[in-house]
Amino acid sequence: MNFSLREGRSSDFRTLWQIDQQCFPPGIAYSQAELAAYLRRAQTFTVVAERVSDPAATSTIRAADAGGKAGANARLAAGIFGFIIAESRRNGIGHIITIDVLPAAQRLGAGSRLLSAAEDWLRSQNCHGVRLETAVDNAPAVAFYKRHNYELIGTIPGYYSSGIDALVLQRALGAKSSAKRVSR
Ligand SMILES: CC(C)(COP(=O)(O)OP(=O)(O)OC[C@H]1O[C@@H](n2cnc3c(N)ncnc32)[C@H](O)[C@@H]1OP(=O)(O)O)[C@@H](O)C(=O)NCCC(=O)NCCS
Repeated sequence: MNFSLREGRSSDFRTLWQIDQQCFPPGIAYSQAELAAYLRRAQTFTVVAERVSDPAATSTIRAADAGGKAGANARLAAGIFGFIIAESRRNGIGHIITIDVLPAAQRLGAGSRLLSAAEDWLRSQNCHGVRLETAVDNAPAVAFYKRHNYELIGTIPGYYSSGIDALVLQRALGAKSSAKRVSR
């Protein structure tokens, strides 16, 4: 899939919120107020993944969709389809606040590139590790993070407003991720 990454802008806000609504179930998806507060926080960095509107890119996505992602999400419009928000912290352990890739664009390498960009930024902010939370029942996210060398360090009961527990995952940031494939 042809796409590029760039730093998020305030004008992206509504698109990012709409993506978050599609990526997470009620009780885990952010309200507009929550997302706005995270984006405004000091020491946060947002990267968006954006698809360019060229016909070749469209056919690449259609071909990928034919392998199992047909249906309502089979066509991905040009524009932002994913993003990540990372936060650097004084204790040297950065935090991934959220990572979202629209269902039609998942398993095409965008999440890996977003995560890598956020990790690079955290390294540049002198973070030596990165931590995040994900819902215990979010098997795709757990597989994704394991693939990127994150390890389980704990759980937080009732972390989400839906009552679901969170897994806390962490990795060291001494070296770039050794995941074998991060883009297609
Ligand atoms: C988790 C998420 C960001 C991954 O993004 P993505 O663009 O699909 O990830 P990639 O294509 O880079 O996947 C890299 C690897 O992660 C693992 N992975 C990703 N999605 C997976 C899934 N649904 N099932 C199993 N493994 C998965 C695989 O090892 C995959 O490599 P492969 O496709 O060669 O098998 C995306 O699924 C998403 O936005 N989900 C909804 C929101 C969410 O749960 N965010 C994380 C919690 S904060």
